[in-house]
Amino acid sequence: MRFNSMLPPSLRVIPNATLRLIGDLRDATLPRREIARSRHTDAELQAIRDAAAAHRADGRHRAALILKVVAVRRETRNAVVLDFEAADGAAVAFRAGQFFTLRADIDGREIRRSYSVCSDPASGRLAVCVKRVSGGLMSNWLNDNAAPGMLLSADGPQGRFGAELRADDERELILIAGGSGITPLLSMLKTALGQGRRDVHLIYANRGVRSVIFKGELDELAARHSRLRVTHVIERPSKRWSGRVGRLTSESLRELLPGSADRDMYVCGPEGMMESVRLHGERSGWEPSSLHFEHFVDQSSTVTERTPGVELQPRRVVMRASGRSFDVQPGETLLEAGLRAGAPMQFSCTMGGCASCRVSVKSGTFHMPEPHCLTGEEMAAGDCLACIAQPLSDLELNC
Ligand SMILES: Cc1cc2nc3c(=O)[nH]c(=O)nc-3n(C[C@H](O)[C@H](O)[C@H](O)COP(=O)(O)OP(=O)(O)OC[C@H]3O[C@@H](n4cnc5c(N)ncnc54)[C@H](O)[C@@H]3O)c2cc1C
Ligand code: FES
Repeated sequence: MRFNSMLPPSLRVIPNATLRLIGDLRDATLPRREIARSRHTDAELQAIRDAAAAHRADGRHRAALILKVVAVRRETRNAVVLDFEAADGAAVAFRAGQFFTLRADIDGREIRRSYSVCSDPASGRLAVCVKRVSGGLMSNWLNDNAAPGMLLSADGPQGRFGAELRADDERELILIAGGSGITPLLSMLKTALGQGRRDVHLIYANRGVRSVIFKGELDELAARHSRLRVTHVIERPSKRWSGRVGRLTSESLRELLPGSADRDMYVCGPEGMMESVRLHGERSGWEPSSLHFEHFVDQSSTVTERTPGVELQPRRVVMRASGRSFDVQPGETLLEAGLRAGAPMQFSCTMGGCASCRVSVKSGTFHMPEPHCLTGEEMAAGDCLACIAQPLSDLELNC
């Protein structure tokens, strides 16, 4: 049964020929920039809770949360900030750097995409910023349709980016963002300014000045905190731009980051930019363990690209606890094959970032592309992420 059909008529999604969310409580009269809170009666809230519980009990939908959009703010022409609260009013805790995976029914398919939290955990606010991707399903759908009152099911918080940040660390914190990659870094920046004494240097690359997400908020923060330095790098500036111009390359990073490599650097942005940072780190002697990258785009590659010489053939996977088994075709991930065969497999981000799909491998070998979020100990224990792992032999799983 659909989540939406369990809600009272006043809470049901407005029918839309192609797009449908799980329970859209939109109030079309609210202006976009207004911070608005939807108010529900106790009976309505109970209906939401019951529907959410039934939704979760349905084996196909295991989302942990139902989030309600409480405010929508357009940040730039192509990016929108959504403020959420749990639909049942419960507090949602998260750590700076983490993300939530949102789900929506689009064109009759359940689409899941991850979005990093951009707000400060200490603020009690849960916000994400979604930037349009050309031709992208979810990002455009949210930019066009999100409105106060809308309900989305979600998993999270997830991710380990930023987990090493410590309040008592006094070394300068280096944050390097490109485009929408600012989101987890803004949350980390606010946390660092709020709880420690360390200096923070944000280097933020964008194509044009008008596409700089959170420009106003960053200006305000820099004016308020002498510990914060923000260096904007604009590729195609307007004539009035007096700041730094160009792209972030390993050479420009050498100028921007003189001095010792004894600091942590957190990086999130387009792959080319992250590669430049990696190169700069290597050339300047940064410890690889001090460089932390968050990828928004799937990095996985096929077995053939990464492991030439491996014989490509279907592999058998046996799930020991449930007694189920399925075949994985060449080029498929464990998760793709498992879901195709109807196996009860957990997943969320589908790109190696959240560990929802972690499985323990009893026997057999597999290929798992880097980067991913497993720790060294988990890998040493034989764990793998089903969403990016491809078997190199028949496998036995401890599940
Ligand atoms: C951990 C994590 C955190 C994320 N946080 C944010 C965030 O805070 N804000 C945000 O806007 N996005 C974030 N993303 C990206 C987001 O999850 C989606 O991938 C993005 O919104 C595009 O989804 P879509 O459905 O619109 O595009 P899709 O329909 O999935 O893709 C359309 C096309 O665009 C390509 N593509 C997908 N994503 C990107 C991208 N980011 N850049 C360039 N090309 C892309 C795809 O390869 C495909 O060819 C995050 C991703 C991850 C994994
Ligand atoms: S689903 Fe997130 S790591 Fe596999």
